[in-house]
Amino acid sequence: MKRTAFALSASVAVVAAAIVSASAFSPVNAAQQPATQAPAAQATAPHVHPPNPTPTNLQVLPKNLTGDQVHEIMHKWEADLGGSCSTCHAADPKNIGPNGRPRLNFADDSKPEKATARLMYKMTEEINTQYISKVDNSGDPVTCGTCHRGHLGPQPFKATEDHDHDHPATPKQ
Ligand code: HEC
Ligand code: HEC
Repeated sequence: MKRTAFALSASVAVVAAAIVSASAFSPVNAAQQPATQAPAAQATAPHVHPPNPTPTNLQVLPKNLTGDQVHEIMHKWEADLGGSCSTCHAADPKNIGPNGRPRLNFADDSKPEKATARLMYKMTEEINTQYISKVDNSGDPVTCGTCHRGHLGPQPFKATEDHDHDHPATPKQ
């Protein structure tokens, strides 16, 4: 039981953050702003957007997540990998946004990076439930950022040169 709770802790923290931020920017708050302030508020107010649409194609994330919860996780993955939404999501040439550029079709599965990300998510969950949770007093679950550290392809690890300074020199042949 303890192990299951541990494995889910990372996702739950993300979801909790999503719920907090969603309520802070609820449409009700926006509607209560006096109309006379609207033009100024549009220029300076933090980015307020309507709730994100309910996901239709979740295959590895819990299927009951709301659009806002998925959005929060996506922002985390984006930051952990140092990419953008279009790293994994394909543009839809038939759906042109106000800036004249095609919008992304988030439910579409045509980019190989999206399939890889699904594998990576399952791997990360398994590392946490099957292995990390078995370490006594382990507190930090593995996240995408543990390996990726802001890069789409994890960078090779280079050990510092002086790690073996106490060893005798290797005999020359
Ligand atoms: C590293 C790859 C990756 C990045 C970067 C990424 N996504 Fe995703 N996204 C996925 C994967 C994989 C899924 C499907 C998850 C599943 O199958 O449970 C998904 C699903 C979604 C969905 C749900 C679509 C549906 O209807 O099922 C939305 C919305 C979404 N992403 C938005 C975004 C946004 C917005 C960004 C940028 C802030 C973003 N994604 C960045 C990989 C990514
Ligand atoms: C245990 C380390 C580890 C973790 C944790 C991890 N990855 Fe990866 N990931 C890798 C490695 C290593 C590669 C490179 C594989 C290759 O290129 O052969 C990779 C490759 C990828 C790629 C493909 C990059 C490309 O160039 O096409 C994506 C997308 C990706 N990971 C997403 C994720 C996401 C999203 C998560 C978290 C849910 C995650 N990874 C967690 C190690 C990790």
